Amino acid sequence: MKINTAEFVISNSDVSKCPNEPLPEYAFIGRSNVGKSSLINMLTNNKNLAKTSGKPGKTQLINHFKINSNWFLVDLPGYGYAKVSKKTKSVFQQFITEYFEKREQLVLAFVLIDIRHEPQKIDLEFLTYLGESGIPLSIIFTKADKVPRSKVNNLVASYKKALLEGEWEEMPPYFITSSETELGRDTILEYIDQINKD
Ligand code: GTP
Ligand code: MG
Repeated sequence: MKINTAEFVISNSDVSKCPNEPLPEYAFIGRSNVGKSSLINMLTNNKNLAKTSGKPGKTQLINHFKINSNWFLVDLPGYGYAKVSKKTKSVFQQFITEYFEKREQLVLAFVLIDIRHEPQKIDLEFLTYLGESGIPLSIIFTKADKVPRSKVNNLVASYKKALLEGEWEEMPPYFITSSETELGRDTILEYIDQINKD
């Protein structure tokens, strides 16, 4: 799929104020600093669309980006960032949960996982939460440029093992990406295009 237009529409912390057009949307969720906003910029080929930062906790709202005038990418705040205050954390968690529970336009959640790290409890819990809520999901492994190519398969295998040892019967669809090298870009855009057509 070719991206012809990608425009920022609205940021907010109130799910009821998200765009009410009945267009399919794809949400990006994962730990703070995993690379959600960078991935959105990589997919849309626009470095300035979503705000990114080396410091975790940059995205603090639900951000809607309209693509080709007929679907949305949604950038969400990260979870699991220890340094935001407990109050901010619970407010974040509340509207993220509300988003996943109420947003009818949501077609699929991409859960981003930093490929460099061993499976983390908070990610496994979040995957389980989405799975149990019946929300279709795919995993996106990020920052693949930071590990040797030869290690990628082993890292994915260790993730799969952790899921299968938990409550998962099979590994969800997954993608290996780098926002630096654009690895995974075409595959993800084709995947979205296919779902939009179904
Ligand atoms: P929050 O909004 O704080 O939850 O973070 P985020 O998940 O949106 O992460 P963001 O896209 O802001 O990226 C965090 C940091 O990781 C930035 O310094 C990015 O440049 C870096 N980064 C993101 N993706 C990649 C990648 O694929 N490769 C490399 N090397 N760095 C990346
Ligand atoms: Mg962000």
